[in-house]
Amino acid sequence: MNLMPRHALDTLPTLADERLQRYRQVRRYSERLASPLSPEDMVVQSMPDASPTKWHLAHITWFFETFLLVPHLADYRPFDPSFTYLFNSYYEAVGPRQPRPQRGLMTRPALEQVMAYRQYVDLHMGSLLVQDLDPATQALIELGLAHEQQHQELLLMDILHLFSLSALKPAYDPAWPADAPGREGRFKALNGGLVDIGHDGDGFAFDNEGPRHKVYLAPFEISDRLVTNGQWLQFMAAGGYTTAGLWLSDGWAMVREQGWQAPLYWQQDGEQWQVMSLAGLVPVQVDAPVTHVSYYEACAFATWAQARLPTEAEWELAATSGLLEQVDDVAWQWTQSAYSPYPGFHPAPSAVGEYNGKFMVNQMVLRGGASISSPDHCRPSYRNFFTPGLRWMFSGLRLARDICQHGAYSSEFARDVVAGLSAPHKSLSPKYFYDAAGSQLFEAICTTPEYYPTRAETRLLTDVAAEIGAVIPDGAALVEFGSGASDKTRLVLDAAPQISVYVPIDICQDALDSAASRLHAHYPSLEIAPQVDDFTRALRLPEAAHGKPRVGFFPGSTIGNFTRPQAVQFLRSAHTLLGRNAYFIVGVDMVKAPALLEAAYDDAGGVTAAFNLNLLKRMNRELDGDFDLEGFRHLAQWNAELQRMEMHLVSQREQVVQVAGQAFHFAEGERLHTENSHKFTVESFTEMAALGGWRICHQWLSAAPQVALFCLC
Ligand code: AVI
Repeated sequence: MNLMPRHALDTLPTLADERLQRYRQVRRYSERLASPLSPEDMVVQSMPDASPTKWHLAHITWFFETFLLVPHLADYRPFDPSFTYLFNSYYEAVGPRQPRPQRGLMTRPALEQVMAYRQYVDLHMGSLLVQDLDPATQALIELGLAHEQQHQELLLMDILHLFSLSALKPAYDPAWPADAPGREGRFKALNGGLVDIGHDGDGFAFDNEGPRHKVYLAPFEISDRLVTNGQWLQFMAAGGYTTAGLWLSDGWAMVREQGWQAPLYWQQDGEQWQVMSLAGLVPVQVDAPVTHVSYYEACAFATWAQARLPTEAEWELAATSGLLEQVDDVAWQWTQSAYSPYPGFHPAPSAVGEYNGKFMVNQMVLRGGASISSPDHCRPSYRNFFTPGLRWMFSGLRLARDICQHGAYSSEFARDVVAGLSAPHKSLSPKYFYDAAGSQLFEAICTTPEYYPTRAETRLLTDVAAEIGAVIPDGAALVEFGSGASDKTRLVLDAAPQISVYVPIDICQDALDSAASRLHAHYPSLEIAPQVDDFTRALRLPEAAHGKPRVGFFPGSTIGNFTRPQAVQFLRSAHTLLGRNAYFIVGVDMVKAPALLEAAYDDAGGVTAAFNLNLLKRMNRELDGDFDLEGFRHLAQWNAELQRMEMHLVSQREQVVQVAGQAFHFAEGERLHTENSHKFTVESFTEMAALGGWRICHQWLSAAPQVALFCLC
């Protein structure tokens, strides 16, 4: 039954209406762009790469006529058969055409005829668009509209080039907005790894944007803003255009041949630089982004700046991570990626297959979008491309650097700090709490009256040790993950003398050595085989554990400090490491009243606050930071939706902090998220364990404040 009132249904736009409306919108925009121009402006071709406006207006119309009306509208008669020769751009499958460099010779057909051609095609497209169309035809219409939008941008590029050559330096539109000035870029770090790039299938994309595929990226950093005119002036003052060593060989040849001394459209007026823009000749704005530079110039600048251009995959990852400004509203950004097919790319078999595929050589990819790009035309997977010497496009650049070559980020800590503080929601892994001072503070937390988990778990372990002992097979190897001082282990070892080997895994050699010697004194017949490793990444067990039944041990509710995917991943790799028929005893903290939880993570004595703030001290000491400890406040908060305690450091005022060679801005009240401590119910833990490949075979729950030990198998 349809519950919508009849009159509402009547006014609902149909799919065909929407299609028609969108078609008209795009087509009208082309005419609006041409409206400030005189008929004479529209005829001239200023260089072989540019086309006259009249040609653009006709060619985009020809596209709809050739690829949609002729094959798909019954009884359609082309407006003028000679137009196929005049307005075909590069489609070999459609036949011969007016040579590209001679598009400016077309005084005929007159502009009125081209406008009549547009009207004729629009009228017939109106009939086609309201029909029931198959998906392939609908996709062709979308392609036609995206094609028209590309030419709208070309039309503006070409007019600017034409006007730049005029002695009058005419403004296309005196009110055309200038690019907004702003601060210089800051580098943002990304860890990279195996990432997916390419169009994800949602909405329209050109064929060259797919297939989506995996790319491995080494850690890198990328500037969040484009290079400015001011930076470009410094490059020029430093001899950028006269120092051969900065240039690619082909680029240097072009500098000499073309006499480049500045970006295209710049001209010197005494001491001042002026630039030709769509608003006419205007002073170069030092804080606005540089535009109209070639790939060669962009590379030379990057070399001078001790950086490089990003690859297109790096650009896409950074853009989709929300780290970049000036993504698609100023200038296309050169990448160091050659324009070539993605793995698995096949051009369409029809004439439109010529659209992108046949240009996949000798061109470089630009990403983003420009101030002159048509509304809604760009997306993060968009691959624009031009030959490296061209500069009449609205092209700029943003810099990138390899992290491993940049001394300050030689440690994983430095890299994670820069990546974590660069993110829209600043965060750091809680694993960085545990330097020497942090480990001592954690021990102190465990003795505060409010922090119940350690005491509650030790009590529970003491109470149920015999039951746990009964589960452990004869001759078993006990493998402890992140064993530290191995304090709780003794409760298990005492209750299970059948354990023959103890394998403590910990990243800290010293902790392992002292724990091993203490245990050895107490359990002389127990073989102890310590393993220095990050317990989340351990791949192999020592010889001593081979051929023995295995029991994993992971007390302390540390699993709660992982993100859900990390926890599942850890459970899976523990499963692989321990092997089939293993048991895994895991300590977990349970959901309880928020007031109790918040007190446990914000004790009255301020020990947890000191533990949290110690992270800032550590960054100051190890990464040459200048965090003011008074400028941040400890915050512990229950997140009911995600069932976790969260710890944050809250900036007490607006401030800029330097750390690891970078500056980071904190707004007043902005948080640095330092820890999650997930709390579980039996159901939620069962579910997570199952994702990690385990089921619960025994469980022991304490009295309030409730903690649990789960035996997984
Ligand atoms: C180590 N881990 C289980 C502790 C927890 O409760 O999440 C760390 C801690 N954070 C604040 N207090 C204690």
